[in-house]
Amino acid sequence: RFLKWTWRLTWVSAVGGLGYMAYGIYQNRTPADQPDPDPSKKTLVVLGTGWGSVSLLKKLDTENYNVIVISPRNYFLFTPLLPSCTTGTIEHRSIMEPIRNFLRHKKAAVKYYEADATKIDYEKKVVYINDESEIKGASSATEVPFDMLVVGVGAENATFGIPGVREHGCFLKEVADAQRIRKRIMDCCETATFKDQSPEEIKRLLHMVVVGGGPTGVEFAGELQDFFENDLRKWIPEISDNFHVTLVEALPNVLPSFSKNLIDYTEQTFKEETISIRTKTMVKNVTEQYIEAEFVDASGQKQLEKIPYGLLVWATGNALRPVVKDLMSQIPAQKDSRRGLAVNEYLVVKGTENIWAVGDCAVANYAPTAQVAAQEGAFLARLFNQMAKTEEIEVKLASLSEDQAKAPSKDVRDEAFAQIKDLQKRLRRVQKMGPFEYSHQGSLAYIGGEKAVADISWLTGNLATGGQLTYFFWKSAYLSMCFSTRNRILVIMDWCKTQVFGRDVSRE
Ligand code: FAD
Ligand code: NAI
Repeated sequence: RFLKWTWRLTWVSAVGGLGYMAYGIYQNRTPADQPDPDPSKKTLVVLGTGWGSVSLLKKLDTENYNVIVISPRNYFLFTPLLPSCTTGTIEHRSIMEPIRNFLRHKKAAVKYYEADATKIDYEKKVVYINDESEIKGASSATEVPFDMLVVGVGAENATFGIPGVREHGCFLKEVADAQRIRKRIMDCCETATFKDQSPEEIKRLLHMVVVGGGPTGVEFAGELQDFFENDLRKWIPEISDNFHVTLVEALPNVLPSFSKNLIDYTEQTFKEETISIRTKTMVKNVTEQYIEAEFVDASGQKQLEKIPYGLLVWATGNALRPVVKDLMSQIPAQKDSRRGLAVNEYLVVKGTENIWAVGDCAVANYAPTAQVAAQEGAFLARLFNQMAKTEEIEVKLASLSEDQAKAPSKDVRDEAFAQIKDLQKRLRRVQKMGPFEYSHQGSLAYIGGEKAVADISWLTGNLATGGQLTYFFWKSAYLSMCFSTRNRILVIMDWCKTQVFGRDVSRE
């Protein structure tokens, strides 16, 4: 009897769950009508469609402002799973969410322009924008005035001015980067097996060099080794003896921001996976076929070594975007800031009143991570919603005070007074919002071989753990963080597809 009821209950919850999901999908596909943006309201311009800006837009009540979003990318990208796209473990469209779909579900309509912000004139309160896409109309450069501006343009790849990096290296920040890497991996493998290829050339072509031992470099190296072990080795056996991944890092260890035992665990795992780690090795120059790296030999002498490569992936962190650099140069209060827009505890860009910055382009003493950007965006949404409410109450208060002054009788005056008191109380409650406080949930990184490392903030402190169980935690954590149900389903399907059929080794 108990079993019968459990069985029934399982069926009911499964059908209920499916029904709920189906309704969610239906709702998502049939957006309701939206009121047009109200030009009489304050114009809030949001630059970027990354973690910071989208998190702000998610929680922002768009009825309160005339919202305009400007970004060259008309989708949100779930960057934590981008390394998996370089080998086809996950298809890139599974981690992209069209910004149009998302904005179409906001309460009031939001304008979106696919363009780069090329200059922000903070005194004139204008953003200059350029359509840099392939197709350009008669109008492709214009200006957008703002009352309030949020800068969430992220960062670009740091090269530290090292010659040859931009020409010969691949970055790993955008979808196009992942596609380029995927194509190059296969190109290297196919070219290495070309008729009469010399042994040295085969070795070079199959040497995959990753520069930068931060989380991006480590996760990519792990994914690439998986690709080789699970698929490439099987379908192109002739590359087996020469395919090799090397990770080059200038500091004494990889993953410097993780706990010491996780650093050791990662280095040990890489050893087992036969990924070479070259720490204390700084790349100084890049040519088409080799990198030149400086290291200190056993006798303490600095040596310059030429390391030939077929594929070079450059992951040495972030640098400022030109539009951010230009804005900083206009504001005297930003003159000492080097790593990005210095902001105060409410994320207001120092030296301005109506510009806020979120994510990798802002310096608020936190690491440039998605976690920080998302929390900053959500904070700004609350702040802007509160500011709109405050304004509404203040207008009501002013009108009530006028009514009270003109009131013909004591009763009416008393009633207005009571209402004023009530509103003043509400105003104090609304205005109570404190400054931005980051709450660190922990760091996760995939290190290949179905293993991951996790530094998790726990009630009583920190939990540092690595291995296969952590890998399942990594998977479920990132799955739950995916932007939408659609993304979640697509990622699950990609994982299943990879398990069942393996990764696709065609070059395209
Ligand atoms: P972004 O998300 O980079 O968004 C910037 C937006 O601005 C983009 O839409 C871009 O198109 C737009 N833009 C650029 N230039 C202009 C312009 N001139 N005008 C207008 N718009 C512009 N962090 C984690 O916490 N956990 C992880 O697991 C993790 N994994 C990562 C994996 C990879 C491969 C990478 C590259 C990063 C990872 N990060 C991770 C870091 C995280 O992605 C960034 O910290 C986060 O994206 C920063 O958010 P953001 O909004 O500042 O910038
Ligand atoms: P990073 O800044 O974390 O690491 C770059 C590494 O490159 C540094 O260790 C640096 O010493 C090294 N380096 C710099 N120049 C070099 C040179 N010339 N030769 C050799 N090594 C050199 O950069 P990364 O990994 O791109 O990450 C950027 C941000 O994104 C970080 O804040 C990171 O925490 C975050 N991120 C987080 C992830 C996660 O939590 N799983 C995954 C990817 C990124």
